[in-house]
Amino acid sequence: MHVNDASDRSSSRSSAEGDAIGRFERLYADAERGGAEVPWDLAAPHSLLAEWTGRSRPDGSGRRAVVVGCGFGRDAEHLAGLGFTTLAFDVSPTVVRAARRRHAGSPVRYEVADLFTPPAPWVGGFDLVLESMNVQALPVGLRARATAAVGRLVAPGGTLLVIAAGRRPGEAVDGPPWPLTRAEVESFGAAGLTPALVEEITAPDGGLRWRAEFHRA
Ligand SMILES: C[S@@+](CC[C@H](N)C(=O)[O-])C[C@H]1O[C@@H](n2cnc3c(N)ncnc32)[C@H](O)[C@@H]1O
Repeated sequence: MHVNDASDRSSSRSSAEGDAIGRFERLYADAERGGAEVPWDLAAPHSLLAEWTGRSRPDGSGRRAVVVGCGFGRDAEHLAGLGFTTLAFDVSPTVVRAARRRHAGSPVRYEVADLFTPPAPWVGGFDLVLESMNVQALPVGLRARATAAVGRLVAPGGTLLVIAAGRRPGEAVDGPPWPLTRAEVESFGAAGLTPALVEEITAPDGGLRWRAEFHRA
């Protein structure tokens, strides 16, 4: 299976805890000046998302989707194309501006927001929540809070789709990113979310990927 994500190792690494947000804003600002490349700035939606929507054929009409840590908007545009009323947010103002410019005229609403302090109406507000390659990019000390914050966005009857780089138990990591173990992926299923499917996928580079689906009753 072709997996079109990219490692999120940036050359200008600045991964101290508490600086997770600034690390991304600096990278996007550098890239805008031509001084850096953003490894996940790819034209196509993530292949594991495209494959999942191709398989499950979700009908987005009348349904709300949110894309967490949307970056340049590749996955948000894909969901909007399936008919979802789509909100996409990122903590970096620079990338949100870039996404709006890049997708001028798009029905996607791009917002600057912090996953850890979302506007109150967003909590329990979405029929489909996409978390792709973000939690792994945050320092491990923030992981439990980030996982819980993602889950809180899912509406009753809604679905959470998680796409993440993986690691096997005991495998050393030297992030960023800090790939997730199976247990860490399954922990999205706390707080009222039931795991429907946890898929372990081997990427062409031999790395592990997770694609996991959770539902809220
Ligand atoms: C590795 S990138 C992945 C971007 C996108 N999901 C993709 O796959 O193309 C992680 C993204 O999460 C965003 N991010 C980091 N912390 C965040 C937070 N607390 N709230 C919202 N977005 C955040 C970063 O700015 C960055 O765009």
